[in-house]
Amino acid sequence: MPKLNENFLRIQNSYLFSEIAHRTAAYVEANPDKPIIRLGIGDVTKPLADTVIAALHEGVDIMADAATFKGYGPEQGYDEARNAISAYYKKNGVDVEPEAIFISDGAKSDTGNITDLFGHDNVILIPDPVYPVYVDSNIMCGNSVTYISGNAGNDFLPMPDRSQHADIIYICSPNNPTGACYNKEQLQEWVDYALENEAVILFDSAYEAFISDPTLPRSIFAIEGAKKCAIEFCSLSKTAGFTGTRCGYTVVPKELVFKASTGEEMSLNTMWNRRQCTKYNSTAYIIQHAAAAVFTDEGMAQCRENIACYQKNARLIADTLSDLGIRFYGGIHSPYVWFECPDGMEAWECFDYLLNNIQVVGTPGAGFGENGRNFFRLTAFGSYENTVEAMNRFRRLFGK
Ligand code: MLT
Repeated sequence: MPKLNENFLRIQNSYLFSEIAHRTAAYVEANPDKPIIRLGIGDVTKPLADTVIAALHEGVDIMADAATFKGYGPEQGYDEARNAISAYYKKNGVDVEPEAIFISDGAKSDTGNITDLFGHDNVILIPDPVYPVYVDSNIMCGNSVTYISGNAGNDFLPMPDRSQHADIIYICSPNNPTGACYNKEQLQEWVDYALENEAVILFDSAYEAFISDPTLPRSIFAIEGAKKCAIEFCSLSKTAGFTGTRCGYTVVPKELVFKASTGEEMSLNTMWNRRQCTKYNSTAYIIQHAAAAVFTDEGMAQCRENIACYQKNARLIADTLSDLGIRFYGGIHSPYVWFECPDGMEAWECFDYLLNNIQVVGTPGAGFGENGRNFFRLTAFGSYENTVEAMNRFRRLFGK
């Protein structure tokens, strides 16, 4: 009999979004005549931009011709995708060399897989609330984590506590689920703290395209010193609607070098490359070809039109909650609106209440950590019509 990874006994039986899908499916089966509006998982609803579709077709043609056909690609990703991403960083005022960029099938995989690079006795700081993958992936490999509290008192933007040592620090900005976004000074404090501690920051910038204030940092590498202490994960899921098409990227600067217990220097860029070569063959060529098209002027302009529609939905949700006197966060530099459950409800109670009374599906804050137990998340990724209808239902349910 195999010895099992019993760390799985320490995590919830079901991943948050699978649990929501399961509960929703049970409700739909019992109430087939009641139309549901899904504002739970942050999944986009707009089709891919025309430029991206054209590149996908072109990619298929390339694969259909013996002269251009491609088999296994480079594990790090094709140059056209890495160069396009490097140029995108440059346009945003950040210098990231293509060799530091690794193409993947999305930020979820890489934020989960990055634990391969680290040993097991680290002090790992993870905000509460936060995207559940960071915690679950650490628990799965036997690590313990230390939570740093995001709460109404700090606008869900926890700052470093200098009396506490850290080795690994997870930061997500704009934050999933709260929508809170760090400014430059705040991120500089995190970077300085990481450098003082010789720690590494694992920075998830999957929602950077939603930042509308040009003074707010869209990359950790906009912060001085970050290349010596940070890895950045990003994704085309929310930037360009690739949730179903799957493409993301991880930046591991060559400057990230730490000492092994033997005194030998180890480069995280070299280690991640080694890890990817062993366990991964990068995402499909056709997808990478389409990803490169996202970063052309035309592709980016079209993607930004879609983002503007989601931003309009976010504003509508925020305005409705404001009118109803429900306290909320986010919705400005983020597709998520994070609100306090009305009438002192707990998060899963609020989930059932909304599902049973107005058939709106959201995400209970408790799924993102203990500090979310009285909070609830709505996504702006639905269609405009559904968002309007959901907000009308909110007004009927919570209007005095
Ligand atoms: C979310 O709803 O939090 C995200 O869509 C999940 C993900 O990106 O994996």
